[in-house]
Amino acid sequence: MPHLLHLDSSADLTGSRSRAITAAFAETWAGRGADHTVTYRDLHTDPLPRLSTPALHWAPRLRTATETAPAEDEALQQTILDELLAADVLLVGAPMYNYSLPSTLKTWIDYVHVPGVTTTIDETPSQPLAGRPAVVVTSAGGSYVEGSPTAGWDHLTPVLRIVLGTALGMKVTVLATELTLASRLPALADQVRHSEDLFAAVQLEATAIANNL
Ligand SMILES: Cc1cc2nc3c(=O)[nH]c(=O)nc-3n(C[C@H](O)[C@H](O)[C@H](O)COP(=O)(O)O)c2cc1C
Repeated sequence: MPHLLHLDSSADLTGSRSRAITAAFAETWAGRGADHTVTYRDLHTDPLPRLSTPALHWAPRLRTATETAPAEDEALQQTILDELLAADVLLVGAPMYNYSLPSTLKTWIDYVHVPGVTTTIDETPSQPLAGRPAVVVTSAGGSYVEGSPTAGWDHLTPVLRIVLGTALGMKVTVLATELTLASRLPALADQVRHSEDLFAAVQLEATAIANNL
């Protein structure tokens, strides 16, 4: 059964573009038939506690003698890992907050980027998610494209590409919507049309991908 893990992290529960795009994706996915199942986790409304100890960053076999973790924290991490490992496709809603990730999404990354479990660090191959698709929907108030004055300020997309793609070995597709603050900030007023066109185009792209994965 093709299974989707759908994560959202925007703090905006009404006007979020990343939420709208991931919802369109998930709806299309589920619409393909009863065998296309979905697990949904809202990292904003149901936030994970931050990692209690660095021991959780390592596979148990790679921990030092003094690195131990409380059993309930191990159990929570295993739940989060099991959710990801059960997914044939990962869908992540990732708004830009302070040029970076929302802390809620960063915490989820802290739980799943585990050397020796989800990423290979020694002679034991440990990349069970290698080759699986990860669709990352980013949403930024400004613009960070090549040639813009703030090109290079995007510390959201590169982190997700490195962790999900390079470390976990997933096949990452980034669907980026930007200039979402154009209708709010007078300085961006001339970008409103472009922002709305981009939003519509990314929604269409998301549904096309959801139909084809
Ligand atoms: C806490 C916070 C920090 C933000 N920081 C930035 C930022 O650094 N750069 C930017 O372009 N937009 C920033 N924004 C604007 C959001 O990226 C923008 O509203 C985006 O559309 C949020 O995604 P969403 O529509 O899915 O909620 C910030 C918004 C919030 C709430």
